[in-house]
Amino acid sequence: MSFLSETLARVKPSPTIAVSNLAAELKAAGRDVIGLSAGEPDFDTPEHIRAAGIAAINEGHTRYTAVDGIPDLKEAICAKFKRDNGLDYTPKQVTVGTGGKQVLYNALMATLNKEDEVIIPAPYWVSYPDMVLLAGGTPVFIEAQLENDFKITPDQLEAAITRNTKWFLFNSPSNPTGAGYSRDELKALTDVLLRHPHVWVLSDDMYEHLAYDGFQFCTPAEVEPQLYDRTLTVNGVSKAYAMTGWRIGYAAGPEPLIAAIRKVQSQSTSNPCSVSQKAAVAALNGPQDFLAPNNEMFVRRRNLVVDMLSAVDGITCPVPDGAFYVYPSIAGLIGKKTPAGVEITNDEVFATELLNDCGVAVVFGAAFGLSPNFRISYATSDALLKEACSRIQAFCAKLS
Ligand SMILES: Cc1ncc(COP(=O)(O)O)c(C=O)c1O
Repeated sequence: MSFLSETLARVKPSPTIAVSNLAAELKAAGRDVIGLSAGEPDFDTPEHIRAAGIAAINEGHTRYTAVDGIPDLKEAICAKFKRDNGLDYTPKQVTVGTGGKQVLYNALMATLNKEDEVIIPAPYWVSYPDMVLLAGGTPVFIEAQLENDFKITPDQLEAAITRNTKWFLFNSPSNPTGAGYSRDELKALTDVLLRHPHVWVLSDDMYEHLAYDGFQFCTPAEVEPQLYDRTLTVNGVSKAYAMTGWRIGYAAGPEPLIAAIRKVQSQSTSNPCSVSQKAAVAALNGPQDFLAPNNEMFVRRRNLVVDMLSAVDGITCPVPDGAFYVYPSIAGLIGKKTPAGVEITNDEVFATELLNDCGVAVVFGAAFGLSPNFRISYATSDALLKEACSRIQAFCAKLS
């Protein structure tokens, strides 16, 4: 019998973290590597948020706090939901965790039983299926095709629902595609859910503020108020406020569910970092005016990458609505060979050869559940992106 748990055997380590680690190792060994795999902004946490963190330390906010968040952060989160999403929540309906990742994990741990299914549109954020498996449930995938801008249709959702479906896990704008659902598109999905009262909605709104070209973010509980009582809306400060290392995520939903999540957290990690909570209050309550210039910068980078990749014969690169990822298809390169004779049989081989040949680290599509594609995170400098895309162009030109 194995010393390690059987549950652990069902899951795999995060492939995005694995690629980032490999790129870092190669760099440390002296290779010229450009890493485009990490899902985090390349700029610092804004000054006023850093200052709030420093003040929190100096003012002695360095002890245990309430398990699922300090009252002023919960108030700030309620105000944020009202301001940005028109949603009314009380602090008792709010939970704060060590990143959105922990909040999602806790929600699944708190709710999943053996027979339970969680519907996950693919391509998906790499952690969703494994979190479901760790919590003892079964992920059920719906493939969102490139032809439909990486979005699922209401018919696909309807067909995936069974009597065992517990959650529909929704993420817009999406990691890895950047695809965002318009209000009408989301309404068509929530209409399906209205017909299935046993299905709850887990909405991961992590990229809410990273929306471009006039794309209007919307979230299920806002689009369909009848779903309010069976929706957990998850968000966090990592992406928009460049606070990935501070580890603060949060969610709002029905009180009994929030209490169950608190129970999981109370017997595992307890409260998220006290200092980070104070910094998150400053992030949510403070000025939001830096978001627009950041988004202009992301749009410029997105366009640069989309233009350079679209110029490659064999690559199709849709224009995303938000987040900071592109998810190009390499269908036109499958079957081609490198000068050394390696056949590009799938996106994992493509990503490996790309890294070996020209030192560009991207994440292969199979990791996100839709192939043959790869994901580029464009949250890095224009100069590096230009260099990386030139290298990709040169690598692809050598394939025959
Ligand atoms: C879609 C999505 N959800 C949630 C998270 C978790 O973010 P954090 O734990 O930093 O709040 C990420 C991070 O990459 C993500 O891409």
